[in-house]
Amino acid sequence: MKVLHTFRDVREFAQGSVGLVPTMGYLHEGHLALIDEAAERCETVIVSVFVNPLQFDDATDLDTYPDDLERDVELASCHGADVVFAPSLTEMYPTRQRTTVTVAEVADAMEGEHRRDHFVGVATVVTKLFSGVRPDVAYFGRKDAQQLAVVTTMAAELSMPVHVVGLPTVRESDGLALSSRNTRLTPSERHDALTLSQGLFAAARLFGEGERRSAALEAAVRDVVIGSPGVQLEYVTVADASTAAPIVTVTGPAFLALAARVGSSVRLIDNVFIDASTGTVDTGVKLDGPSILYGGDDPCC
Ligand code: PAJ
Repeated sequence: MKVLHTFRDVREFAQGSVGLVPTMGYLHEGHLALIDEAAERCETVIVSVFVNPLQFDDATDLDTYPDDLERDVELASCHGADVVFAPSLTEMYPTRQRTTVTVAEVADAMEGEHRRDHFVGVATVVTKLFSGVRPDVAYFGRKDAQQLAVVTTMAAELSMPVHVVGLPTVRESDGLALSSRNTRLTPSERHDALTLSQGLFAAARLFGEGERRSAALEAAVRDVVIGSPGVQLEYVTVADASTAAPIVTVTGPAFLALAARVGSSVRLIDNVFIDASTGTVDTGVKLDGPSILYGGDDPCC
């Protein structure tokens, strides 16, 4: 396992089929599932760790973003990564970034509406990772459903020679979607935050019973979340899975996504995938025990 800091060193090291798992570090089981899949399918697995200032619109969120490279290196290595690529700010942005990538429409609703220029930052850094590392396959989580749609659209429309793969959301054992931001919740905030996944699961059940109207599915989420006064929903939206455009009726692959502020400072997102063409629901997978985020042991390490 190597820790490398420049694009050139990564390219020189990589051999055979190359799988890339882009992350902002402080790895948890959601990231590890992506690394596991890459390790199964690719000869060289590269995990990038870079907290990208370009995609943060909130200085406190950026400043408080947890970081522990030593811990990330150990976890990535246990899960079969060959390289942790941890570029410096100047390796990633040697000059003022005048060239940025905008994915119209797909980036407009939901996160795009509430976090100005967030997806320009994401699309730009992912483009730099794709062109600097040159992976054959790149792995992303469905937890960030709109991000997955943005990156997939960008790669296709800019003819990037990379296959973008999306994998299910990994949840804590009680259903809360894993996020490094969960560590900033107080015990009572964490308890309140549970209504987010519970609301989505309730809506997914309704979808399973045949409900296809977005308004009814969104209302099912709100009905549950309203029970937690400490949780302020920013949006609850049903969107087409590939265009991320809000839809009125579910007729094909879609996701029901939400963002919420919990307590005073933590912003969480979550979603479930629902597919009317197959009638299937993907709510993700739950851990059996406590996450490594809270000091739980990783079975691989
Ligand atoms: P980060 O939040 O570190 O997430 C890295 C990858 O892990 C993303 O593809 C994200 O969707 C996935 N992921 C996060 N939590 C997950 C969970 N609970 N289950 C499954 N997958 C999960 O997303 C980013 O970083 C950045 O925007 C990045 C793409 C690295 C660009 O800077």
